[in-house]
Amino acid sequence: MNDSERKPRARWLAQFWADLKASTDPGLLGVARFLGLLYGRIDRSLPIDQALRKALAYRLPGHVGWRHALGGITYLLFIVLVVTGVLLSFYYRPSVQEAYPSIQYIVTAVPMGWLVRNLHVWSANLIVLAVLAHMARVFFDATYKPPRETNWMVGVLLLLVVLVFGGTGYLLPWDQWAYWTVTEVLGTMSRAPLLSVIASVLQGDVIVSGATLSRFFALHVILLPWVAFALLLFHFSVLRRHGIAPPPEGKSSDRAETPFFPNHLLRSFIVAVLVLAVLFSLAALYPRAVGDPADPFQLPEGLVSSWIVVDVALALIRYLGVWGFSLFTLLGISLALLPLFDRRPERRLRKRPLALALGLVFFAGFLLAWVAGSQLRSLPPSTHLRSEGVVERFVPQELEAETPERDSRSQNSGDREGQQ
Ligand code: HEM
Repeated sequence: MNDSERKPRARWLAQFWADLKASTDPGLLGVARFLGLLYGRIDRSLPIDQALRKALAYRLPGHVGWRHALGGITYLLFIVLVVTGVLLSFYYRPSVQEAYPSIQYIVTAVPMGWLVRNLHVWSANLIVLAVLAHMARVFFDATYKPPRETNWMVGVLLLLVVLVFGGTGYLLPWDQWAYWTVTEVLGTMSRAPLLSVIASVLQGDVIVSGATLSRFFALHVILLPWVAFALLLFHFSVLRRHGIAPPPEGKSSDRAETPFFPNHLLRSFIVAVLVLAVLFSLAALYPRAVGDPADPFQLPEGLVSSWIVVDVALALIRYLGVWGFSLFTLLGISLALLPLFDRRPERRLRKRPLALALGLVFFAGFLLAWVAGSQLRSLPPSTHLRSEGVVERFVPQELEAETPERDSRSQNSGDREGQQ
């Protein structure tokens, strides 16, 4: 069929496609030139034109599809966390006296402050889901096998960084929920060998106090961002060097390669718009409330968890006990270290029944525990804390005796800061 015989709509589509392709070349840089970002020597001497054309023409294997977008979603959420985190740090003050009022100021007085804060809180939740989904994709596709095992291990470190980011950020609002959850976690860690050293360094005082807040803040906004950038750089460089893994043997790889532009860019754009739509909706519809100010002398009536990992831990401990929680954590650690042991080239899922079963138990278990844990939010923490004697150990009796009245709670927590 020649051109004149085609239906007008098909002709229009073909023309549109040709225009779109043609627009890759000078079109995008034209925008930068128009805005004055590229001019004169910079434009002439730097090979930006060439680099852009090369990047856009980069061809990806035909099997790369929607599930390969999960790593990109994680990266997008990481960028949202960095941007919103920087905006929050303009107003947040990391001291016992000022942390709580500064959060209240952000959500009530700063224009769009409530939205920025809740985008930050929700991204911190979604990134855990995204990174685990990405990990599950890599795990079930068995692309962690040589030569990509280094990148898997770098990924494990990235997962740890994401978890420590969430854990350290959790205390920063300095409300009752944050205070007592962190007290409980550090109290539990302090009873395990090795972890007790980390807990005591993190806590820096006999109870969770201004010293703890400073340490959590320093890790959250100074140390971890640099570690994360370095690891991401490494992750992406190794990815670039090895390329995306081919499909497992036996699966057809006869699909033609597809160019990055427009195919993958369009796919990434659709995914990014969807993720941002979900994120903004969650932040606007389900904002994280601010609890009462932290009071080291008073257990709250109930805890509201604002982070998925806390929900999961709550559910595991409640329904499976401390042993169940420890076993689940061990399973996670074994999966993380799997590439060190599983070096067989076999990648087909049906030939890896043990990996399939363990992976399903872990990833589905995590999701189930999250759903169950999110229902437990209003449970008072006292049962666990009191039965384990944590309260008695972390709130010295003489301090409790000195404060018969509970009418100056924030003042009391400020006093701890003053004692340091
Ligand atoms: C902040 C966290 C992370 C970011 C932003 C990130 C980003 C990405 C991106 C964009 C890709 C390429 C596209 C894709 O395969 O999805 C990728 C590939 C890969 N990632 Fe990650 N990732 C992260 C964490 C992890 C974790 C936790 C693991 C595993 C423990 C991991 C292991 C891998 C591996 C092995 C590949 C190569 C996959 C292949 O060639 O098929 N990554 N990552």
